[in-house]
Amino acid sequence: MTQASGAHRRIRKAVFPVAGLGTRFLPATKTVPKEMLPIIDRPLIQYAVDEAVEAGCDTLIFITNRYKHAVADYFDKAYELEQKLEKAGKQQQLEMVRNVLPDGVRAVFVTQAEALGLGHAVLCAKPIIGDEPFAVLLPDDLIWNRGDGALRQMADAAEASGASMIAVQDVPREQTGSYGIVATDAFEGRSGRIRAMVEKPKPEVAPSNLAVVGRYVLDPRIFDLLESTSPGAGGEIQLTDAIARLLDEKPVHAFRFQGTRFDCGTHIGLIEATIRYALDHEKLSDAAAQLMQSALKELGVLELD
Ligand code: G1P
Repeated sequence: MTQASGAHRRIRKAVFPVAGLGTRFLPATKTVPKEMLPIIDRPLIQYAVDEAVEAGCDTLIFITNRYKHAVADYFDKAYELEQKLEKAGKQQQLEMVRNVLPDGVRAVFVTQAEALGLGHAVLCAKPIIGDEPFAVLLPDDLIWNRGDGALRQMADAAEASGASMIAVQDVPREQTGSYGIVATDAFEGRSGRIRAMVEKPKPEVAPSNLAVVGRYVLDPRIFDLLESTSPGAGGEIQLTDAIARLLDEKPVHAFRFQGTRFDCGTHIGLIEATIRYALDHEKLSDAAAQLMQSALKELGVLELD
């Protein structure tokens, strides 16, 4: 394979931690993993996979648990369905089903036996990643952009600089307790070197209101650090705590990506994402806008003339 021109190694492997319980979406998530909840016609995990593939990743590592067969089934080849679609001449649908995992991209599934936290989930990928920089994508965080995807932007910046990259965005100060929060040097362009990082601080002790969004490009040194990271916030082994230790050894940059992030781990975030994708959809856009207007009118939510 030819290496893209750049001073440092390009990421080729991406980790998707999908072992969470998804309790916020019960009862739906009693049987459907939250990563399989759809925005229009594609499950959340597909958006994250497409973003990783676009960034140049060809090895996708899913960290699952024993209840998440649906994720593995989704990426498996569906022989019967493909045959039926082929026979029925439904070429477009056939392509869609086949392209869930494009040619040349492979999926690897690793079971996280115990739910010990995000840091522990990432550590489960160590034997498959080895000694190269890699990406982590949290499928709950859906990032919409008309140009290059967020991970691609980060992978380019990491390749050029050799630094690890953590996606960030400003959040209202009262929300710092829901995020990893960073303190950085002054930004040059889209990135600034991180000096401190803390998981879910209360607003009064947060070092800033710059929050970590679920996209990371990480140096493999993180694995050794994760192995010796003790449980932190919420009693879990936190990725943030290991990254905070990485700061002493290697450059780690906060990256303000171009795009809009939807927190699909919450009800309102999932609704917001659905609205955005519907309004941006080539076939659904007009009908969706009309439906929204009439719903607002009928329910008296907004006075429109
Ligand atoms: C995780 C990370 C946190 C980050 C967030 C982004 O938290 O631990 O640092 O800010 O994802 O979505 P979680 O939302 O899984 O509690």
